[in-house]
Amino acid sequence: MIQTVYAQRRQAVMAVIGQGTAVFASAPTSLMHHDVDHVFRQDSDFYYLTGFDEPGAVLVLAPHHEEHQVILFVRPKDKDKETWSGRRLGVDAAKEQLGVDTVFPIQELNEQLLNYLKLADRLYYHLGHDQALNEILLKHWQRLLATYAKRGTGPVAIEDAHLLLQSLRRIKQPEELTLMREAIAISVKAHNHARAIARPGRYEYEVQAEMEHLFRLAGGSPAYPSIVASGDNACILHYIENQRQMQAGDLLLIDAGCCYRYYNADITRTFPVDGQFTTEQRILYELVLDAQLKAIAAVQPDSPFNSFHDVATRTITAGLVDLGLLVGDVNTLIEEKKHKAFFMHGTGHFLGLDVHDSGTLRNPDKTWQPFRPGNVVTVEPGIYISPDYEPVEGQPQLPERWKGIGIRIEDDVLVTAKGPEVLTAGVPKALKDIEY
Ligand code: GLY
Ligand code: MN
Ligand code: MN
Repeated sequence: MIQTVYAQRRQAVMAVIGQGTAVFASAPTSLMHHDVDHVFRQDSDFYYLTGFDEPGAVLVLAPHHEEHQVILFVRPKDKDKETWSGRRLGVDAAKEQLGVDTVFPIQELNEQLLNYLKLADRLYYHLGHDQALNEILLKHWQRLLATYAKRGTGPVAIEDAHLLLQSLRRIKQPEELTLMREAIAISVKAHNHARAIARPGRYEYEVQAEMEHLFRLAGGSPAYPSIVASGDNACILHYIENQRQMQAGDLLLIDAGCCYRYYNADITRTFPVDGQFTTEQRILYELVLDAQLKAIAAVQPDSPFNSFHDVATRTITAGLVDLGLLVGDVNTLIEEKKHKAFFMHGTGHFLGLDVHDSGTLRNPDKTWQPFRPGNVVTVEPGIYISPDYEPVEGQPQLPERWKGIGIRIEDDVLVTAKGPEVLTAGVPKALKDIEY
């Protein structure tokens, strides 16, 4: 992405904080185990404002400062360290390439920070996993507070810097949508390939491997641990072992998406591995699909965020009552959360730099935020009937033929002024397209 996009985002933040100072840190590095490095993944807020993907960096925004408003701290060049753990941009090149006002080596953070904090009225900082950095900032804040009475300046409060970005990040810019469409195109291809190769006798991990092979071939990586869940396993929401051999009569639930240049896709499809649904599988599939299509239709600009979940919940609950799997009045069942025995998760989340992306859903008065053009949300209702399903009091025992069926259908949807646009429509979900 070109540097001006990041510069505009920083300007948007600075316009909001005015006399404040905001500090954004890169993600901490971590070891996998013993001496082996984890793959580094930049913090999404930091990346959103810099496009810089190195660890050991801190961005300071100080719009009120006389000399520098955008200050970056980076790891300095170090021949020996770079031999072991990779290239570093370094101070000089960062100054030339990243469009910031000044760059310091990260070792100078502690001493330089005071200069950018002492005139600020607020400090914006997300207390994160980097305890050392948390301590540096809290220590500065404490010291400045101690001298506030004498000087009359300095931050009087800390606000969460992550919340500063959520209203920006939830509206995707054209450059972001281009990358999301690419992540989705790769994922669509992988899902269609998976459906072509999944057969009784093959293992879940084979399907996973072929999908992730396509992600990697396109320069991407799995956005999250791929779920390839056949038979009963589909009733475990976060099943990621993917070790089972598929059997005739199984449904296969695949929840997998590609991350491409930091942007994520998140797609789920469920289909029979031998091309034919059983009667019960088909009935439940059609119910989930009906709920999903209605939920997608509810993703309209200005509708409150809970509207699509309400539609999905109502459709599924009413359908389960019609089938005799739940007994009672639909409204009462929903109020008493009885549907959660079968549909126990939300209907969707924002999607973007993070799979569960930034974006506050509710206002302080408990009303819901509305959908807005530029939002990208997943729509992913499901029904899961555990193999050892036990009804709560007042609900019926279920015949065995309904048990061990798990179904979820998940699309990624862009809110436009004209309504929902399904970005993941390239993976079929209609019965006629997945049965053979
Ligand atoms: N794959 C993660 C989710 O659906 O939220
Ligand atoms: Mn998913
Ligand atoms: Mn999802």
